[in-house]
Amino acid sequence: MTVTIVGSQLGDEGKGRVVDLLGEPADVVVRYQGGDNAGHTVVDGDTKYKLSLVPSGAIRGKVGLLGNGVVINPRTFFDEVDGLREQGLDPTVKMAKRAHVIMPYHRAIDGIEEAAKADSDLEAGTTGRGIGPTYEDKAGRRGIRIGDLLDSTVLRERLEYVMPHKRALYEEVYGGDPGAAFDIEALFEEFSEFGERIRSEGLAVDVGTYLEDRIAAGDRVMLEGAQGTSLDIDHGIYPYVTSSNPTAGYASTGSGLGVTEVGQGSVIGVIKAYLSRVGTGPLPTELDGDLAEYIREEGGEYGTVTGRPRRVGHLDMPMLRTATRANGFTDIAINHLDVLAGLDEVKVGHAYEHDGETRDTMPATTERWGECEPVYRTFEGWSDVDWEAVAATGFKALPEPAKEYVSYIEAELGVPAVALGLGPARETAIVREDPWA
Ligand code: GDP
Ligand code: IMO
Ligand code: MG
Repeated sequence: MTVTIVGSQLGDEGKGRVVDLLGEPADVVVRYQGGDNAGHTVVDGDTKYKLSLVPSGAIRGKVGLLGNGVVINPRTFFDEVDGLREQGLDPTVKMAKRAHVIMPYHRAIDGIEEAAKADSDLEAGTTGRGIGPTYEDKAGRRGIRIGDLLDSTVLRERLEYVMPHKRALYEEVYGGDPGAAFDIEALFEEFSEFGERIRSEGLAVDVGTYLEDRIAAGDRVMLEGAQGTSLDIDHGIYPYVTSSNPTAGYASTGSGLGVTEVGQGSVIGVIKAYLSRVGTGPLPTELDGDLAEYIREEGGEYGTVTGRPRRVGHLDMPMLRTATRANGFTDIAINHLDVLAGLDEVKVGHAYEHDGETRDTMPATTERWGECEPVYRTFEGWSDVDWEAVAATGFKALPEPAKEYVSYIEAELGVPAVALGLGPARETAIVREDPWA
């Protein structure tokens, strides 16, 4: 049995906390796309864990897997695992032999390409982790996979094939001065050592087969998405997107489980009660001034990976309707209801006006999206209360206007809100339905 957790907006909706909240009955938690561009925060008592590659379920001692759809930087992966050991955890995280490796030259190219675009409308504001260049090489059939790190002949062959291409790009297109990140011998030595560590710790597996066996044995598998639907390379606001597919269909492709297996389980869209955005591009419901500042401070809206202040906006319902369709959500989880507390009124972008027409979903091009004027609905605000006490009692204790807000979102999307976030900690959340039942 599976449960899939997907971001429904622009990332940072609180997927990590929902995995933690609903993942207790799971045996295995799998990431299926993205890489260390993700930053998932899980709060356990007084300890805050910030995870980029290690699946959030590792906090609760679940087996973590990085599926074939993930791109893995062994440097940051081992730093993260070692860091968690220092925090007193002993995570078990295995990785797909088919997953692609983020090499130092991918990061270098990500940085220089963004710098070259800095003065144009094309800058995506990437996290600088080399995500795009790694997926480019995957699609271009010149990537290096985890399995290749275990075979020195293949690793050397791949590096020798790819390096003239990478050096030429860095030097001739971007005018950079390639250093150690482009040195075949240095890379061969470092990445062979990673291969050795992966082999000696038994970390590389065939994830699809592994999962099939676990499911056959009756285990429960949670699939943990990174980023969000509007950052999806197919369904998002191209080109201000990431280079993978956070949408639920890729939970199958990126893990090796069949679509029918994933489709039998719940697909839960995680929603932030407003909007936040790290990175560039249009944002029709964007806020500025005092209200933006208030929400940014109350919600701690600073990037987990980069520390950048996040842009904030009103909830965008056309974005959520689009996400509900593209993912086939069976349920939603709404976080950050506490952050909006204390406002006199709460506005929602209910629809868009564009070219004299009213639309209730996103247009297919980002340029048209940027021209959309939100049609707002205004809800009564709710006061700041003791959220832990509310969580302990359950939905009925939620302030009435907050209940109305939740009901409105459920009715518009046609799916139930199975979990509500009223603060970052486990104790400040309401679980209304068990997705594993
Ligand atoms: P993710 O990338 O989707 O896992 O989300 P992040 O962890 O990057 O960002 C979400 C932030 O909001 C984290 O700091 C969480 O601890 C915090 N958070 C999650 N849910 C809630 C909530 O319901 N209320 C509040 N106040 N914070 C939350
Ligand atoms: P989580 O999993 C928010 C954004 C970047 C940039 C664009 C492309 O924590 O929700 P990339 O480095 O992926 O090539 O950057 O995508 N971005 C995220 N924004 N949350 C994330 O992950 C993100 N991962 C990438 O800011 O606009
Ligand atoms: Mg995040």
